[in-house]
Amino acid sequence: MATTDRTASPLVPSPPPEISAADAARIVREQFGLVADAEPLGSNQDRNFVLTAEDGAHRLLKIANPGTSVAELDAQSVATRLVAATAAGIRVPLALDPETGTAAEAGASTVRVVEHDGQPMPARVLDYLEGRTLSGSGHLAPPTVRALGALAARVDLALADLDHPGAVRESQWDLRRAPEVLAVLLPQVGDAALRERLRAAAAEAWSSLDTVAHALAEQVIHGDLTDDNVVSGDAVGRLPDGVIDFGDLNRSWTVGELAVTVSSLLHHDGVDIARALAAVSAYDRTRPLSRAEAVALWPLVVTRAVVLVASGHHVVATDPGNRYAEENLAHERAIFEEATSVPLPVATARVLATVGLTVEECELPAHGPLLADLDPEAVAVLDLSATSSALDDGRWLEPGVEESLADEAVSEGAPAVVTRFAEPRLTGATPAATAAPANTALAIDVTVAQPRRVVAPWPGSVRHTPSGLLLHHDEVELHLDGVEPEVADGGAVPAGATLGLSRTRLGVRVTRTGADAPRPVRADWARAWRSLVADPTPLLLGRSLPDPRQDPEALAARRRRVLADVQEHYYDEPPMIVRGWRQYLVDSDARVYLDSVNNVTSIGHAHPRLTEAVAAQWRTLNTNSRFHYPVITEYAERIVETLPDGLDAVFLVNSGSEAVDLALRIARACTDRADVLAVREAYHGWTFLSDAVSTSVADNPQALETRPDWVHTLDAPNSYRGTHRGADAHRYAEEAVAEVGRLAGAGRPVGAFIAEPFYGNAGGIALPDGYLSAVYDAVRAHGGLAVADEVQVGYGRLGSWFWGFEQQGVVPDVVAVAKAIGNGQPLGAVITSHELANRYRSQGYFFSSAGGSPVSCVAGLAVLDVIRDEGLQENARLVGDHFRRRLERLAEHHPLIGAVHGSGLYLGAELVRDRSTLEPAAEETAAICERMRDLGVIIQPTGDRLCVLKIKPPLCVTTEDVEAFVDALDRVLTTGW
Ligand SMILES: Cc1ncc(COP(=O)(O)O)c(C=O)c1O
Repeated sequence: MATTDRTASPLVPSPPPEISAADAARIVREQFGLVADAEPLGSNQDRNFVLTAEDGAHRLLKIANPGTSVAELDAQSVATRLVAATAAGIRVPLALDPETGTAAEAGASTVRVVEHDGQPMPARVLDYLEGRTLSGSGHLAPPTVRALGALAARVDLALADLDHPGAVRESQWDLRRAPEVLAVLLPQVGDAALRERLRAAAAEAWSSLDTVAHALAEQVIHGDLTDDNVVSGDAVGRLPDGVIDFGDLNRSWTVGELAVTVSSLLHHDGVDIARALAAVSAYDRTRPLSRAEAVALWPLVVTRAVVLVASGHHVVATDPGNRYAEENLAHERAIFEEATSVPLPVATARVLATVGLTVEECELPAHGPLLADLDPEAVAVLDLSATSSALDDGRWLEPGVEESLADEAVSEGAPAVVTRFAEPRLTGATPAATAAPANTALAIDVTVAQPRRVVAPWPGSVRHTPSGLLLHHDEVELHLDGVEPEVADGGAVPAGATLGLSRTRLGVRVTRTGADAPRPVRADWARAWRSLVADPTPLLLGRSLPDPRQDPEALAARRRRVLADVQEHYYDEPPMIVRGWRQYLVDSDARVYLDSVNNVTSIGHAHPRLTEAVAAQWRTLNTNSRFHYPVITEYAERIVETLPDGLDAVFLVNSGSEAVDLALRIARACTDRADVLAVREAYHGWTFLSDAVSTSVADNPQALETRPDWVHTLDAPNSYRGTHRGADAHRYAEEAVAEVGRLAGAGRPVGAFIAEPFYGNAGGIALPDGYLSAVYDAVRAHGGLAVADEVQVGYGRLGSWFWGFEQQGVVPDVVAVAKAIGNGQPLGAVITSHELANRYRSQGYFFSSAGGSPVSCVAGLAVLDVIRDEGLQENARLVGDHFRRRLERLAEHHPLIGAVHGSGLYLGAELVRDRSTLEPAAEETAAICERMRDLGVIIQPTGDRLCVLKIKPPLCVTTEDVEAFVDALDRVLTTGW
């Protein structure tokens, strides 16, 4: 074996000798009486082999480092048994008794010492836990992160009373020994800059630890409860339920276990500190952390990261062939970078807040005003939040808008304008970014009408800086950018002394002395930064400004109290959406999401033409359709213009459900028949009639059993996964025609046949060619009417066709439409011929209080105008085609995408576990939707199997948005969900 200069000691053990698979197989045969093939597994210190017996059963051969004693290995077997006995549901690899070949009982030794290359080496055979570890840098979803934290806590509780001589050892992984270990390991890091960073981080962490080390509980811990050492028997959810490799079992700080677990999360895609802390709260719920442990946690995470990196370098230097260690170096480095991505006190503040402990915040000292002769009451506050009306109509996207708004306020007479401290600024957000923006300034920006005298709010010493000056006072520093100093560098000033003259823009921040100058941070980090940064607003206004944002969780709790449970919301932890603009949605932290589900918002959110038209109409008149006003006529004329001849009588209602309901009532009135034919796996609304013809079990699991007897259903004409696929799909029409005939023959001829003309609820699947034409003909031949539900797919979304029925080359008798036609204004329409419409007289006359109101009609007109003037149908065609092609290309690399359905901007990516069985990947789809939200994309599942990503964004979506969507999906499918 090639070795270079090695420094072997219990703290820095040398690797075991190479052992071939054949030797391993021999060892288990001779020592354990097992006949099995052996396959090597990677490890830093031991030699491990997976054994496969003739019957296919797996076991594990562990040949320990020669420095390991039999007592240590026995301690590991005892610990494993203890976890198995006390922590129900946690799987562990029990050791085999070499004498009996079965799980060893208490007291039985499980170790055989084998000779290899003249060295005695202790070997054991253990159960092999089936399942996957969480190894690699793939994404770990929040439930997995939480499960890992809870697992660590349960193992700690199980081992709390373990007392075994073999569990007290000198180990480089005992974080209590880190300074000694690093003294040996750090010199192995060749890169001097990295070495220095590691050294500095470890030193800072150690000095924080020192303050609480005496109060940290100790016990025997697993010592390496990481992503690599847990297994999940649950292939889809990846919830870890098994713990392996007790080889680092040792007495140490209990909280060290959690630090090891948490640090192992930090190299996973999309798992940053904030995400990893979910493991901490889960741990804390099972085994509450003391304050000292919470304070120690992040220093220990940093220390562990430093030891990992340094040890990785050491192993690579001393065991050059160790590819496992080489590959791990990148992960170890990523852990270190993430662990130190915020200052240690900030990370600790966040840990404390996570487990509900108080955090000591940086406070302003006693102070006077900063700007001389400024009346705080006259100062204007600039609202740059996501709800700011100053940022309406997309103004937040204008470059330099913050300065323009401040200048506008000054020009309106304010002597000064101040931004809000720690406000997530919409102006700092980027549309369709994959990460939450660092848009929260931990400083305030002040704009003054003219230069003002800046005075010292407290006594201190002055230092000049490139952009202004710094006033130091005991524990805090006031940083002023945009001031011409009038005090000499190094000079001391009393409170109230002039510091200099401001320019028109002044930046003000207060930090603890020596703290890193904070750049804008992500909104969720602002609170933790308060440990280092104080709110300087009182220096200008004499008070802090309240945070106008509502707490999303508290609001969700209120929502639960006042809204019916069945009125569900997207996502378990929904973002609080406060603004929409074009194809984007914005949450209260001013994070901008790409909205890929809102086909209701056809022309985009907050379209100025619509909002202006509606506001003007509200100011003038809003009444009901029994009055005679111009806009209802103008609007109905415009709808009729989009339709084929003969569809010329319009009813206006408020929703899709009402439109479908009314369409069925018209058919009933016209045919005097109650029987209706509908396709299965469809949704048409919630009112009594529209619900009766809705058969989608995704919306109502009892849908099929609870149909009234007047509803007859046809096989779902799904050419991808239905009864007849591909070229056989024409058989749906034949069977449907036969069913229409059968019903007529049985004395139940249907009055109406209702279907979406493009199968929206199934995920945007085109109906088989000729399907509607055959069924419409058959229904009409037996005296029934054809009703097209265009609520989802109509109005230009399909790109090549304005109405879905055009794709099938048919003309229905009755069209029901809603959603897109009002862009969110409650508006629906039913359009039929005058002849049929008049037959409704048998039901009485038709009236809907708000249906067709002036406000709804101007909204409807504005939508049609915008679709025409902005070429949105053509945009749906072009961007939609591109979208579809990109998704199809993605499917070439990701077998989970079974098919891409749809047309224009009504697309569906159907996810399957197996392309031949088409097993629906429903759990994966749900998890992917969650992860896509993390990456800035709002997307939801659809279809009866909830395995289709329904892609139906506002029609103004761009190709850049498509790239963002597809890149995000690619990342999720590559790195996991
Ligand atoms: C095809 C179809 N028809 C009708 C409706 C009911 O529309 P609304 O929710 O406006 O009542 C929906 C709603 O999702 C739908 O998808």
